[in-house]
Amino acid sequence: MRKSGFNSTPIRSKEGGEAEIMRSTGYVLWFTGLSGAGKTTLANRLHHELNAKGLSSYVLDGDRLRLGLNRDLDFSPEDRSENLRRAGEVSKILIETGTIVLAAFISPSKSDRHRIRQMFSDGKYIEVYVQCPLHVCESRDPKGLYKKARRGAIPDFTGITAAYEEPESPELVIQADQQSISACVQQILVYLRTRGIMH
Ligand code: PPS
Ligand code: MG
Repeated sequence: MRKSGFNSTPIRSKEGGEAEIMRSTGYVLWFTGLSGAGKTTLANRLHHELNAKGLSSYVLDGDRLRLGLNRDLDFSPEDRSENLRRAGEVSKILIETGTIVLAAFISPSKSDRHRIRQMFSDGKYIEVYVQCPLHVCESRDPKGLYKKARRGAIPDFTGITAAYEEPESPELVIQADQQSISACVQQILVYLRTRGIMH
């Protein structure tokens, strides 16, 4: 049995009979947007929604990767490119396992995002622009980073002293300042259903 967006993998149960587990084919949802726009929050909420529906997903988050795999990298344009290249490669490996990767990276440069898109076969990379005006992100300032950046304590801070290039043709635009988190998540779920990625 094969349904759009799903592989059905027979496994042997303890009793010796065959059970079936539904395994989604892999995709990457690449959340891009300013710090504080809501990328991590949306990725985490979506992760729970997908898991509740029996779909395997994984949140790959910039902050998290920078603690380990990418801890040698800073926020210069070159290091951001390398950060994102590695994140793209990890995503590629994960989607081979049938996982829906929820990648949350500022990914401020058009050319870097284009390069990441090229790493995936057609339709596998879904760019989600988490759009939120700078003044709103700055007023949220959940980690106090904008405040520090304004007083010059963080160099190359996106939106303040480093550019964020808006996506031109993302698959999805989420207006994160104009609707609730639940509504944002619903918008993504509707899109995934429309694409046949989930039922
Ligand atoms: S990038 O641009 O895609 O390589 O950045 P990313 O790996 O997503 O890391 C962003 C998180 O790092 C924190 N942080 C900074 N962000 C932007 N600019 C500077 N200079 C900076 N320094 C630290 C911040 O917590 C970002 O997380 P989010 O979730 O976006 O707020
Ligand atoms: Mg985050």
